[in-house]
Amino acid sequence: MKLILVAGARPNFMKIAPLMHALKGHNTIQAILVHTGQHYDVKMSGQFFEELNIPTPDINLEVGSASHAVQTARIMEGFEKVCIDEKPDAVLVVGDVNSTAACTLVASKMGIKTIHYEAGLRSNDRTMPEEINRLVTDAISDVFITTSVDADENLLKENIPAEKIHMLGNLMIDSLVANLAKAQSTDLKFKLLNRNKTIEIGTDFLVGKYGVMTFHRPGNVDEKESLTKLVQLWGEISEKVPLVFPVHPRTYKNIQNFGLQELIDKYNQLYFIEPLGYMQFIHLVSRSMFALTDSGGIQEETTYLNIPCLTVRPNTERPVTVWEGSNKLIKLDEITSEVDLIIAGKGKTGKTPKFWNGGTAVRIVEVLECL
Ligand code: UD1
Repeated sequence: MKLILVAGARPNFMKIAPLMHALKGHNTIQAILVHTGQHYDVKMSGQFFEELNIPTPDINLEVGSASHAVQTARIMEGFEKVCIDEKPDAVLVVGDVNSTAACTLVASKMGIKTIHYEAGLRSNDRTMPEEINRLVTDAISDVFITTSVDADENLLKENIPAEKIHMLGNLMIDSLVANLAKAQSTDLKFKLLNRNKTIEIGTDFLVGKYGVMTFHRPGNVDEKESLTKLVQLWGEISEKVPLVFPVHPRTYKNIQNFGLQELIDKYNQLYFIEPLGYMQFIHLVSRSMFALTDSGGIQEETTYLNIPCLTVRPNTERPVTVWEGSNKLIKLDEITSEVDLIIAGKGKTGKTPKFWNGGTAVRIVEVLECL
């Protein structure tokens, strides 16, 4: 079988890595890796390939950033040519980014079998671009690989036949299991953005005594009013417990455009740093007291690590991290009281969902072999 695997944006890379490793040298499946180029910076893309040992993509569509319509259209145009040239038997997409939906749409219309890893997740919030991508992708995919039972239930409710659904666990946790020990040997030395200073989290400085933040959802950071409110809250919390924030380019750009840097600079323990590579980021999270985030993947990684996670969103497409894991969904005005609870040692803990154990890529390859 000739199988094209698609990767486009940062959260795709740690899902594609274990699959590429499990398919290496496979005697019946020929894997072709296509990078759409949705993310392109070394910090958002290149260093993940290097650290996770992902082979150089066979094809890079180099689409870059643009509006949703333009970016999606560019991916479709480029990917159609790839499918015409390569004539794959199947296309495997991961996650919920624009590249996921765009490539599924192309392959499906060309009659190529499509496989969606991370199918069935639903936030039921169509204001999130990712939710639209999930719905579109699952409406037309042929094979559905899920990370948790709630995703299976969602797909069944949408009339997907049970025999097309395979709950096989979490590829992101495969990457975490494979790399945690190595990640913990990296340094935690960071140059602060816009300040002529470096911090180093060392044996007695800060270990276990800081929070990690990530915020980049358009709903939180694209409007001046909500971003200003967030910056004020981050500042107040950082006076109780230091916060380390590897800033996503979308958030950084908005901070500059809305003139919020001066406010940030008033807080000595609000540490803004560049986006981190995979290893350092995992190291940073694994030594933290808690995570404060609006991301999807971090809810899963903290659940595996059993570190309290405060997710500042009204909903999550990953509810298993709340039912079983250490994740809590909170509102903006609950951040301070929730952080106080964690500081008092009363943060949420949980257990690891089924099959989140490092064996997902192997299970997926077994399913692929039977297609
Ligand atoms: C995308 C995904 C989101 C995922 C996130 C992880 C969609 C709809 N969204 O959102 O689900 O959680 O990636 O990062 O697919 N930029 C750079 N360098 C890069 C990439 C982007 O500077 O390598 C800047 C660009 O100015 C761009 C902005 O970041 O306009 C946002 O990038 P984009 O890919 O549009 O969406 P993300 O917010 O990253």
